[in-house]
Amino acid sequence: MNTDRLIIEGGRRLGGRIRVQGAKNSVLPIMAATVMCRGESRIDNVPELSDVATAISILRHLGAKVTREGSTLLVDASCLSAWDIPDGLMREMRSSVFFLGAILAACGKCEMSYPGGCELGPRPIDLHLAALRELGADIVDEGGRLTASSEGMHAGTVHLAFPSVGATENVMLAACAVPGLTRICNAAREPEIVNLQEFLRAAGARIHGAGTSVIEIEGGRSLHPARVRVMPDRIVAATWLCAAAAAGGDLLVEEATEDTIATVCASLRRAGVRLEAEAGGIRIRSEGRLRGGEVIRTQPYPGFPTDAQAILMAAMCPGDGVTIFVENIFDSRFRHVSELVRMGAHIRTEGRTAVVCGVRRLCGCEVCACDLRAGAALVVAALAAEGKSSIFRLDHIDRGYENMVQLLSDAGASICRTRA
Ligand code: EPZ
Repeated sequence: MNTDRLIIEGGRRLGGRIRVQGAKNSVLPIMAATVMCRGESRIDNVPELSDVATAISILRHLGAKVTREGSTLLVDASCLSAWDIPDGLMREMRSSVFFLGAILAACGKCEMSYPGGCELGPRPIDLHLAALRELGADIVDEGGRLTASSEGMHAGTVHLAFPSVGATENVMLAACAVPGLTRICNAAREPEIVNLQEFLRAAGARIHGAGTSVIEIEGGRSLHPARVRVMPDRIVAATWLCAAAAAGGDLLVEEATEDTIATVCASLRRAGVRLEAEAGGIRIRSEGRLRGGEVIRTQPYPGFPTDAQAILMAAMCPGDGVTIFVENIFDSRFRHVSELVRMGAHIRTEGRTAVVCGVRRLCGCEVCACDLRAGAALVVAALAAEGKSSIFRLDHIDRGYENMVQLLSDAGASICRTRA
């Protein structure tokens, strides 16, 4: 386990500019999709993240050649030699389950261990399996292992019981190799799915509708290598906006686009923050104390993103008034609450609801990053707090944030990373 710590001296306003990295939740399914292309694909704007490193290990295990040239990843999947994902790599990244659809499309079969629960609670994949089975996939699920074959797969219409991001991506990928028209109804509408569609179309797939609730794939065509640019990470953009909102300042968040985080921007404006589109990004001006009074309900896109719930909560803690958060997507996504309370926040939780009563100030202290976005929330809180904070379990933060210390230092924060 990583024993490094982030040491943050709070109370400093943020200024200047901060550039948003490529989106983790785009690049991962796009990397999976490259195994369907015979030849060398190029993915631009790839962030340096531990989840990306895990996906590279999976690609190399499958027999793909992967090289990195700066922020471009070259993946040559001409000669795949395996169709399984080793247990250790599945444990490292449970969201690897969307390799299932890509490997089925590329190899006709796939084996992987059941992606168990994680910090966010159980991570079931029943929607993935039901949809693929409705399309004729033979998936045996026993002893914690999945053994799948696409031999009997056929085109058709599947209705997702819930607009699951991963299940939508898995069916999109698998359906590319199935002759005929496959339709996904109640598909997830997240922008990352539009980015995946962009890559698939560049590779020759006949697919449209990503970003809407109905995605259609005319499958059966072999895919050729393609090039795509990973979209900016909208949750990282939300993180930097919430950091400046809470700490105060005048910051240009470069490559942030309001359309992909419209609900987060609306909440920040209602909390008293000024946001303007500027120079290909968003400029935020804040005096640091946010105004509460809202009920924030996480929803599938385009509703308020669950990944920004902890981050906005942290920004609302040192504010005025009461803000209520309702987490409707994951079963266990309030693990940041106890750590924020250690810093002096007033938060009460009951089931899926957390009630935040703004306090005059947070106080820096030692806190644990319990999951990726909880860790980001603690960084937001520490930047706004009085005094020094020490954040550990940075392995969680390293999964989704590239170069955080340098970026925040350049924006005026007092932050460093030490080996414990
Ligand atoms: C993706 O996870 C993201 N991860 C998550 O981001 C994000 O929070 C989530 O979508 C929701 O937007 C990646 O893209 C790599 P879901 P995913 O399937 O696909 C339940 C982050 O912080 N469900 O939309 O796993 C599930 O338990 C991560 O970057 C089933 O019940 O999310 C959850 O409660 C965290 N059965 C809800 O649906 C299934 O078969 C949403 O899950 C699948 C999901």
